[in-house]
Amino acid sequence: MKILVIGGGGREHAIVRKLKESPRVEALYCAPGNGGISCDAQCISVGAMDQEGVKDLVRKEKIDFVFVAPDDPLAAGMVDALEAEGIPCFGPNARAAQIESSKVFSKNLMKKYGIPTAGYEVFEQPEKAFGYIKAQGKYPVVIKADGLALGKGVVIAQTEAEAEKALHSIMEDKIFGASGNRVVVEEFLTGPEVSVLAFTDGNAMKPMVSSKDHKRAYDGDKGPNTGGMGTISPNPYYTEEMARRCMEEIFLPTMKAMNAEGRKFKGCLYFGLMLTPQGPKVIEYNSRFGDPETQVVLPRLKTDLAEIITAVAEERLSELEICWSQQACACVVMASGGYPGSYPKGLEIFGLNAQGQAEGVVVYHAGTKLENGKFYTNGGRVLGITAMGETVEEALAKAYEGVAKISFEGAMYRKDIGKIR
Ligand code: AMP
Ligand code: GLY
Repeated sequence: MKILVIGGGGREHAIVRKLKESPRVEALYCAPGNGGISCDAQCISVGAMDQEGVKDLVRKEKIDFVFVAPDDPLAAGMVDALEAEGIPCFGPNARAAQIESSKVFSKNLMKKYGIPTAGYEVFEQPEKAFGYIKAQGKYPVVIKADGLALGKGVVIAQTEAEAEKALHSIMEDKIFGASGNRVVVEEFLTGPEVSVLAFTDGNAMKPMVSSKDHKRAYDGDKGPNTGGMGTISPNPYYTEEMARRCMEEIFLPTMKAMNAEGRKFKGCLYFGLMLTPQGPKVIEYNSRFGDPETQVVLPRLKTDLAEIITAVAEERLSELEICWSQQACACVVMASGGYPGSYPKGLEIFGLNAQGQAEGVVVYHAGTKLENGKFYTNGGRVLGITAMGETVEEALAKAYEGVAKISFEGAMYRKDIGKIR
């Protein structure tokens, strides 16, 4: 098979490296990819949102299968465009991808089908939203922009003034553009968070091993939300009993709900869960692999990923047995100084070999470029330093040993990945 992976971050690097292990894969392409990915796949400078460019590339290189990894091309219909040309894909079509691209859609879906989630109301006018929040008088209160916002569209307001400010910037200043035309105002939940990714073809649902993301920028879960600063797998709070409950109360009901709505979901469905005192509840759905969850989940996958994605596309997932390593995995993200705010680019990265790797770890490149044999920073999240171990602690110790060998000016990373709830 000749496979094209769409995207260019750490998640895509982890996908490419796992596909590279498959005996079925004859050639691997990535559009647009990045410096590190170019050591494992042929990177082509076609943007992830460029449907015409991707179609041309598929024809020119005679690509057999396309793996669409990021949320925005999925929401914009990349899979619809490719399938219309007869090209098989991994990933949901635009109608199914709405489970992530519209929070109003996903909240209404959960309410209609009795899937446990935080109580909420939807508003189109900031005054109405603010009036509701004031009348409730319960803080913190959670305010979410309806559409995609690079993982930054959620505000947890501690006071009336913070809520007013958030509504103003989302709905009037439109800091997330049209994504802020509507907001969801949601009850604040508490409890450990768990990420579960699942393969599904609309008929079968096969959850992967669990993981835990660390979304805040600084140690002690302080600072602004980011795309994710590090992950561990498995998530220590996700017991077998909890997995059984989630399958029954959340995963299968979600698949059935999407089918009943005529939005069969095929691809990777991501469940962002909170284990509240009242039981597991859905915080969010994503229509794709998480980043950096993928970087700790896929290394534990023993079954051929190319076989799985083909089975999903052909709706034969129920026939497959998917096997996982018992080992744990940890990923520590090294980010540019200033991230998630503004940051410099083009700084040389030290401590990587010619393949962009370092001893004892796997380095997934998120935002790098390769020029004349040297790697340079080229994004907010730069690298994900990843290691496996018998326990999460052992995996973390190895990952941090790797981090100590790699440097660039202003590099920022959290020192408490896996050590905090
Ligand atoms: P999201 O982008 O929807 O994953 O939200 C980002 C983060 O906000 C989540 O990982 C949670 O930590 C937090 N969050 C979202 N919704 C709620 C809620 N209803 N109650 C408490 N925390 C929440
Ligand atoms: N790490 C969370 C996400 O991919 O949205």
